[in-house]
Parts: sequence; C-alpha cells; structure tokens
Amino acid sequence: MGSTSIWSGFYKKSLKERKSQIELSFPQLVENQGFKILEEEQANNMIENCIGITGLPLGLALNAVINSKSVVIPMVVEEPSVVAAVSGASKLISACGGFTGTLPDRNIIFAQVQLLDIADNDLERTILTLNSKKPFLISQSNEFCKTMFNRGGGVVDLTIRQIKKSTKNSTSNTWVVVHFHIDVCDAMGANCASTVAEGMAPFLAQLTGCRIGFRIVSNLATERFSTAKFQLPVSQLGYKGFDGMEVAKRIVEAYEWAVDDPYRAVTHNKGIMNGIDAVALATGQDWRAIEAACHSWASLKSDAGYKPLTEYSIEELHGEHYLIGKLELPITVGTAGGVLKTNPSYQLSLGLMGSPNSKELALSMVCIGLAQNFAALRALATEGIQRGHMSLHARNIAIAGTVGLTVAGAPSHAISECVTFMIETNRINQSAVIEYLAANQLQSQLSNLHSDDAPKQAPSMFYFEDTVNANSSLEPVLSLNIAFKTFGDKPVNIMFTNESNSTDSIAHLLFGQKSYNWITSVFHTLEKIKLTTIKPVRANQILSKKLKLLSMIMNIICKRIYLTHPNETKKFIKAVLESPGYDPSYPIVPNDSSPVSWSAEMIGAIPLVKTHSGAVLVKEDTASHSLKSSSLFQANLTSIIEEIVSQNGQSVLLTVGLPLLLAVWQVFECRILEWVGSPLLASTLLTEQRHVIASIIGAINPVDFDQAISISAKRMQVTMFLLSDAVRFQSGTIQPNLVTSIHSIGSTLERDQILAHDLSPMRLYRDIQLLNSNKLSLDCDISLGVTNTFLIWLNLNNGYTVEQILSLLPESKEEWKMVYESLIPLFKVYLNSVWKPSINIFDKDSPFDTTGLKQASSFYLNYYDVAWIESAIN
Ligand code: HMG
Repeated sequence: MGSTSIWSGFYKKSLKERKSQIELSFPQLVENQGFKILEEEQANNMIENCIGITGLPLGLALNAVINSKSVVIPMVVEEPSVVAAVSGASKLISACGGFTGTLPDRNIIFAQVQLLDIADNDLERTILTLNSKKPFLISQSNEFCKTMFNRGGGVVDLTIRQIKKSTKNSTSNTWVVVHFHIDVCDAMGANCASTVAEGMAPFLAQLTGCRIGFRIVSNLATERFSTAKFQLPVSQLGYKGFDGMEVAKRIVEAYEWAVDDPYRAVTHNKGIMNGIDAVALATGQDWRAIEAACHSWASLKSDAGYKPLTEYSIEELHGEHYLIGKLELPITVGTAGGVLKTNPSYQLSLGLMGSPNSKELALSMVCIGLAQNFAALRALATEGIQRGHMSLHARNIAIAGTVGLTVAGAPSHAISECVTFMIETNRINQSAVIEYLAANQLQSQLSNLHSDDAPKQAPSMFYFEDTVNANSSLEPVLSLNIAFKTFGDKPVNIMFTNESNSTDSIAHLLFGQKSYNWITSVFHTLEKIKLTTIKPVRANQILSKKLKLLSMIMNIICKRIYLTHPNETKKFIKAVLESPGYDPSYPIVPNDSSPVSWSAEMIGAIPLVKTHSGAVLVKEDTASHSLKSSSLFQANLTSIIEEIVSQNGQSVLLTVGLPLLLAVWQVFECRILEWVGSPLLASTLLTEQRHVIASIIGAINPVDFDQAISISAKRMQVTMFLLSDAVRFQSGTIQPNLVTSIHSIGSTLERDQILAHDLSPMRLYRDIQLLNSNKLSLDCDISLGVTNTFLIWLNLNNGYTVEQILSLLPESKEEWKMVYESLIPLFKVYLNSVWKPSINIFDKDSPFDTTGLKQASSFYLNYYDVAWIESAIN
C-alpha cells in the first residue's frame, strides 16, 4: 500500500514544521484565523463563574477520504494514540477507496412537548384533535423558528407518541408526547427545538385541555442518521505478521463478541466515541448530546439491549473477499450558530475541514468513529493495544515526568529520546522517565565539562535494575541508569532487569555469559562479605551498593572488550590512567600486604578539593573543578575512542562498549565526588577502581609470579567492595589507618578468593582443557592465555610443563582431591608466605565487626566448591 499522501510522516515532524505545512496547505485560513486559541475574556462570556481556561491538544486526523473527497479532520483529545489510530486506519481505508457515506435528507431534530393527565378514555379524542390541527400547529410552530424557516428549514412535521407508563396509574396510563420535527439546517438545533417546544406548549394545552409537562429538545435525533461504510479487500488487510483474512476474521469475531457481551460493547463503543468526541470538541459541538444519542442508539438499534454501534462482516464481491465496516449514528452537530463564533479555534478546525456543512461534519465524525473502532479492533486482534497505545502514551509520561523534576523543562529532543528509550525498553513508566532524564542531565553535565566531539545522536541508555532483594527487604530497588553516546549508527538501549530479554545481542556481546541472573547472584554473593563497623550505620546504603555495582559492571565490560580488542582497550585505558591529576596531600596507596606497589603514576589518581572543614564540597562548579581535572573527563578520551573505532570498524565492543565503559566510570567517579564525604575515602575509592581496571588490562607487567598473582587477585575486587562499604561509615572515622586496614583485609581476602576461584574443580577443569589450545599467560594477562594462578604456579615455581599439567586432568571430581591433595596445601603455604597481611586484620581492637570477614575465606572455598582443601591446609 504505497503512501503518496502529502501527510505521510506528518507526525514525525516537529510542531513548528507541522504548523508551517498547515500554513502552506491552508494559506488563506491560517492568514484569517491563525492558530488562535480562546482568550480568558472570551471564556468569561461563555460560562458562569469563569476563572480561566483549560487547554487540550488539537491534532489532525489525516488520510481520510470520504465520498472520494480527501479531508483533514481536527481532533481535540488528551488520550495518546487516538489521533494516530484514526490516521493509520484512514490511510488504509483511503488506499482502498475511502469511506462511502450517506447523509440525512434533512437535519431533523425533535422538540418534545409532554401532554399530561390525559385520562385513558380521553386519549383517542386528544390524539384525533391534535392530528386534525397538525397543519395549524406546524405553521404556528414555525413562528418560533423563523430564521430556520426562512433558511428553508423549520418545523416540517409533527408526530404524537403514546408511551405506556411503566408505573401504573388509576386514570392515565399513557404518556402523550408531541414531537415537532424541525429541520435545523446547519445548526445543531437544540436551542431552536426547545424554543419551539416552549412556544407551542400553550397552544397544545389550549387545544387539548391537558396539563403541559416538559417542553424540551430530544437529543435522540433518529431522523438524522449519518452512515459511514468502508470495504477493504482482505488481501490489503495483512498487519503485523497476520495475513489479511486472519485479521478480517478476528475483527468480525471481536464484533460478534461485542454483540453478545455488553461489557465488551461498552468499551467497543468507547473506542468509537474516542474519535467522535475528539472531533466534536475540536469543532465546538455538544459532545454530551452526541454521547447520549449514540449510547442510547446502541441500546435502541436492536430490541436485545446495548449493542456495538459498528457492524463488521466479510463478504465476497466480484470473486474477492472484503471486510465491510459500517457505522450509522444519529449525530446532531451544527456548523452555524452562536457558540461556534466564541472560540477562534473552532473556526480554524472547521476551516481545516474545508468548512463543511453540518451534515458533512456529522458524516466526517461517523467516519472517524468507524476508523477509530477499526484501528482499535485491528490492534486488539493482532499485536494488542498496548504497543501502539502505550508507545504513544510514553510521550505523556515523559512530559509529565519532567514536571516537578530538577530536570523540569527538559529539552523537547530529550522528551522524544526518552519516549524512544521507554518504548524500546518497554519500560513506559514514571521512574523510567526520571532515570532517563536524570542520566541524560548527568551525561550532558559531564560532557559539558569539556566540549567533547561526542556523536550528536540521541544518547544511548544502559539500565540495570536489581530487584532481587526488592520484595524481601525494605530497601528500594537498586538501579543504575546511564546515558552515553555511542559511535554506532543509532542509539542503543541496554536493559538488565528481571524482565529484560536475555537475547539482547548487544548486551550479550558486552556481557557474554555474565547474564542478569549471574551478575545479580554474584553481586549478592559478594555483598555477603560486608565490612561493618562494630556500631553498624545505615547511612549511604544505596550509594555503597551503587558503587559496587558500577565497579562490577565496569570490570565486566572492560574484561569483555579487552579479551577481543586488547590493544585498543589498552590504548583507551592507558589514556585514562596515564593522565594524572594527583593531590600529594593524601596518601593514595596505603601500604597493603600485596606484593604489588601500585604507583600513582600507574593509575592517575584523582585530585580532590578539600574545604577548610575537611569535607569535600562538590557543588557544580566545585565538582566540575575536580571532575574537570580528573583524567576521566578529558575531552581527548572521546576522540581516542573515535580514533579506535575509525581504525577498527564497527565492532560493537568498541562503538558501544568503550563509550559505555567510559560513561559508567565517569558516573562512578561523579557519584563518589558528589556523595562521599571523606576526601581520603573518595580518593582511595577512585584509585582502587583504577587498580582493578589496571589489573584487568594487564597494564602492569608483573616482574615475577608473586606480582602476577596479586594482579589476578585484584580482579576479585574485594577491596573495592569493602571500600564501598566504608562510605556508610561516619566520614570522621575514615582515617589513613582505617583505610590501610581495609586494604589489608581486602587484599588478604582477594588472595583467598583467587585461591578458591582458581582451584574450583569446574574452573581448573576448564582452564586445563584450555591449555590444549591456549598458552599459559604467565604474567596473568587475560588476553594472552590461561591465567589460572595455580597452574602458573605449577609451571613457574614447580617447573611443571604444560604437558605435565595437562596430564593432571583427573577423570572425575573425586579424583581431584587425590591429584591435588599433595599440591594444594603447598600452593596455599606459598601464597601465605608472599602475602602476609601488614596488620592483624582480625585484631580484637579492629574497628570492624569482623565476624563476617572471618567467615569470608571459608565462604569463598564453599562458593567455589573447594571446601575440602580447608582441612588440607589448616
Ligand atoms: P502502525 O501500523 O505501527 O503505524 O500503527 P505505521 O507506523 O505503520 O503508520 C501508519 C500510519 O499510521 C502513518 O502513516 C500515520 O498516518 C499513522 P504515515 O504518516 O507513516 O504515512 N501513525 C501515526 N500518526 C500520528 N502519530 C503517530 C503515528 N504512528 C502511525 N505516532 C498505531 C501505530 C498507533 C496507529 C496502531 O498501533 C493503532 O492504530 N493502535 C490502536 C490505538 C488505539 O486504538 N488507540 C485508542 C485508545 S485505546 C482505547 O482507549 C480504545 C480501546 O479500548 C477500544 C476498544 O477496546 O475497542 C482500545
């Protein structure tokens, strides 16, 4: 179905561009009317007790062709997807010939006059009298609607209805109602009808001697039907992967359900009124009268209760099957009359429709109602309503989300980018907006720190939501939400949530087997080894967890990129590590027990600004000052990534992975400088993360096996986790000796963890297997081969050749013990010899609650399934 319409893609344009297209398409109208809206003063003349005006969006239903005439139909509605649905459906219907419609011969509205207290035995005489005076009554009644009469309208008939009373009465059991049938030309006609009814009442009373009851218009204009119809070849109905006949059958089935189930019929008809009311509002019509007439017609059109207003069938015509849709409604609208002059936007709307007369307006509304219903049923019968509806609702949420937020008034491009993010991640809710806009704000603040030549596309998003603990504990959901600019051809959204689909190719490339469940389970496992002071504190819980998660995510991504692109990763990381900004006043490398001395030069420590009270003040300008000097926020980093990408092509690990790594690291540093009160702890955290990253990318060439093993151990990031725990301590307690203790505890536990990790049967089996095709990476560089420290120790310190190590591969798990029972304790003793903790980490005067820490080593051994060696070594 080719779309040649000038309106194609109208919705993708900006508001400004749309208005200019309207100016081009309706130059005269826009010149005369402009896009004026109701002024307060005008409003004050319209209703009582006016205190102002409220606004609703005015949109255009496009692509409608009615009786071969293309018409643009304005709609005023607050609900998303209503206008899109009508435009989309009209596009298809118009491509198949458009709507055919029938108009009422005359715009008849009924004026009712109730004649009361007519005794049953007097009924017939009264009716006769009235009928005999019909011509007089009609001509007399036209006295009360002269203008209509002069326009060729006026009262054209009079009927007398007798309605059985449901509440029995001794004398009079029939309501007698006189209906004046008034052709109200292009007016809606309610006022005219009520005027005629009130005018004629005395005449009727005099004529019949009855008591006059109500004299009022009836909104049920059953002589003013407009009928819209379409017929669509089923061959043109294929939609969202469903073939045309299937779609047609499902729509007819949905209609049949509504015929039998009033609960469905109500929503079915609500969908129709979505469209009709929106046009009524845009063109100044009495939508309450329309609603009442339509819903009453829904229950009157058949004697079987409330029914769907539209009808669908599949018919074979000239050898082809067609889906026939039909809607017939008693719509009373006007295109002439006082109220239409009150609100300037009504004139604009009617002008956009080509100044229809009221019959044409009524028909357009019925066509819109039919299109609306068809679109809803087609969506419900195929992909479900939410994708189309919610994806358009996302914009409302995004706009609403910015209100009241520090990011209030987010630029419109951020709104549409946020909408794309919500739709792609299927997270259409307020918190997604808050997170997205907050992440964007941070990203733009950080990138404003230096005018980097980051790609100008919409930001990509990385979202991690750890709901593992959410239900059980009082803790809020831990989430990370980072905006970053990728070097790919379009933004990406990487989601890690319980619901996120694990088949996301980019997430898989960046995280490999480290799935959401793996990351959350390892995170919660490592969280069990928690550093708490004797008097535990609850401050900064979320910050502590966020720093751990940020560090973990960073390390996983860094490792993945490094394994595939070692040189490029090294180039990028070295650019970060080698541009120091060092504050000598703070010892950043407390002497821990690991054999490697990590020099500031190696890792480019972070300068910190300290106030006279010792606290770090990270107000924007201060932050930018300190952030500004951090190597992580140097402009050249983005251009280094650009250079790497240009030399290595579009590998996602580089175009997405490197910018994501940088963004996670920047957020990590930003959060520390914003929230960690102790400058010492802040610098230690920043530096420790650089240790870990340096250990991952083999930034340090170990001089010997001892150093190599501590580099491997550093990847266990226990120190990082313990330091993150320390952000919960009162900043006053963070003293160099406490940091030294944390370092000692951390590197001792890293030693224990790497031991357990590398000796775990599953890993040892895999690593020995890998030696068949990879070499042993003696300097523990993960990109150069197998970095299992036990196997390296066997080789370097015990002269085992790779062949000998390969021969050590036991058949079964039980054999492990036998094979290694002799070797492992030696390895453990060796480790203890080169890795003596500088302080007694479990000293009774330790400021920490060491219970958990004491169990850490055996916890690791159990976790890695090598608990048996505990007995072997103790
Ligand atoms: P789609 O098929 O994905 O759209 O539908 P498309 O991208 O193929 O575009 C086709 C045409 O649709 C476009 O033509 C536009 O005319 C229009 P083009 O301009 O490309 O040449 N269109 C849009 N117009 C404006 N803004 C947009 C837009 N997108 C497409 N963003 C669509 C997407 C939303 C139209 C479809 O999913 C749909 O019709 N969904 C039904 C939504 C609906 O019925 N909403 C009413 C509110 S829900 C409700 O309250 C009523 C209900 O309860 C009634 C009932 O139960 O029966 C459901």
